[in-house]
Amino acid sequence: MASKQKALIYRCTNCGHTEPKWLGRCPECGQWNSLRESTQTQGMVDKAGETFPLPIISIDPGEGARISTGLPELDRVLGGGLMRGSATLIGGEPGIGKSTLLLQLCAKAQTKGRILYISGEESPAQIRMRADRLGALREGLEVFCSGDLGLVRATLDAIKPTIAVVDSIQTLRADEAGSIPGTANQIKYCAQELSSWAKTHDAALILVAHVTKEGLIAGPKAAEHLVDAVLGFEQGEGDMRVLRASKNRFGSAEEVGLFRMGEAGLQEVTDPSGLFLVRREEGSSLPAGTAVAPVHEGSRVLLVEIQALTVPAKAGLTRVYSERIENSRVSRIAAVLEKHTGLRFSDQDVYVNVAGGMRLTEPGIDLALACALYSARSDTALPANTALAGELSLAGELRPVRQMRRRVKAANALGFSRLIGPPAEVLVEGPSIRGAELWTRASDIRGALKILYNS
Ligand code: TYD
Ligand code: MG
Repeated sequence: MASKQKALIYRCTNCGHTEPKWLGRCPECGQWNSLRESTQTQGMVDKAGETFPLPIISIDPGEGARISTGLPELDRVLGGGLMRGSATLIGGEPGIGKSTLLLQLCAKAQTKGRILYISGEESPAQIRMRADRLGALREGLEVFCSGDLGLVRATLDAIKPTIAVVDSIQTLRADEAGSIPGTANQIKYCAQELSSWAKTHDAALILVAHVTKEGLIAGPKAAEHLVDAVLGFEQGEGDMRVLRASKNRFGSAEEVGLFRMGEAGLQEVTDPSGLFLVRREEGSSLPAGTAVAPVHEGSRVLLVEIQALTVPAKAGLTRVYSERIENSRVSRIAAVLEKHTGLRFSDQDVYVNVAGGMRLTEPGIDLALACALYSARSDTALPANTALAGELSLAGELRPVRQMRRRVKAANALGFSRLIGPPAEVLVEGPSIRGAELWTRASDIRGALKILYNS
C-alpha cells in the first residue's frame, strides 16, 4: 500500500528552488553548488521505501487552494486570488499605498482562518487607527509589531494564520544573517525562511518591499527568486495606482489592477477602458502630437492617449525624455519615421508622455507612438475619430498584434469610428464581431499616414 511520505529532494540554499535530483548549478538562480538534500512530499513512497511518480491525472492541481482577497482587481493580478502555500512579494515606492492595500486585503479576504498582519513599521495603535479609517476591522485579524524574525516565526507557529502579511521585509532582522536589517543578506534570509514557513504550513504569505523609482535596490531584487509572485504597485496620474505582476507562478504576469487612492483607502476602478483618454469637447480636434491606441493589458483593452513633443535640440546632442514608454523604443520609432517618411528627428529633443500616467510596454502601441511623433514633428493634428494599433518593424512595416478584434471593439465602444491597424491578425480569434469593418488595414507606416492625412 502506498502512502504519502517525505521523499528526498534537493533545495537551493540560495533561492529555495527545488529539484528532484542533485545538480551542480541551480537552474532558477544560476548559483553553483547550492543544492542540498531536503525533504518534501513529492510523490508516493511505498512500504519498502521505493518512490514512484504520480499519474498526472491523479494530481490535485490545487486550484481549490485559492483565497479570494475580496478585491477583484487584486485577485485578477494574482491570477484568481492568493494561493495557499505560496509567497507573494509586493514592491513599490514608500507612500504609494502598499500598507493600505494589504490592510484592505486583510479585512476583505475570503477566509475563515486567522489573518496575521506583521508590521515592523507602525505601532499597533497606528495600525488600528488606519484600520478604523479603512473600515478594516474584523474578527480573526491579528496584529503583531516586531522586526525580529525569531519572534515573528514563533508567532506564526503559535497562530498558524491562513494569511500572513509582513510589512516590510526591510524591517525584519535575523540574528543568523548579520546585525543590520535591510541588507540584501538579511532580506534574502528572511524571505527564504518565511516563504518556506508558508509552504510547509499551507499559508498565503505576502511580503512588502520598499523600492525606489529605479527599482534597483539589491535586497528586494534578490528576494524575487525566493517567492512565487512579484507584484509592483506604481503611481499613475494623481490618485491613480497601478498594480502589475512581473512574475507569477500561478497565473499570467500581464494583468493590471487599477485603483484610486481616496479618503477611505483604495477604491477599485472597475471600468477603466476610457480612463486614459483625455476628454475634449464634442467635435473638437486632437492637438498636434497626440494619438490614441487601444492597449491590450492582461484580459482587458484600454484606450490610451500618447502625447509627443519635439523641439530642436540645443547643443547638437539630442535627447529622449520619456517616462512611461521606454526611451529605446521612442528612439527606434523616431529612427523608423526618419528613414521611411523623410521627416527629420535626429536633430530634435523628443518628449513623450502617456495620459493618466500609464506605463506602456506592449508592442501594439508602436503605430500610435509613431503617429504621435509624426504629428508633433509636422505640427499637423490627427483625426480625432481614429485609433491606431500595430507593431512597427525596422523596415516600417506594420506587424500584426494580438487581440485586434477586441481592440476594434473597445475603440468603437468609446466612440472611435475607425481603427487603423496591420493587414493581418496574429491568430484567428473566433467569430467576427460587430464593428470589425471599422478596422482599416495599412501595410506600413507610410500607408497608415496616408490614410490619416487624406481623410
Ligand atoms: P501607505 O499605504 O502607508 O503607503 P506605503 O505602505 O506604500 O508606504 O499609504 C500612504 C499614503 O496614502 C499616505 O500618504 C496617505 C494616503 N492615504 C490616503 O490618501 N487615504 C487613505 O485612506 C489612507 C489609509 C492613506
Ligand atoms: Mg507602509
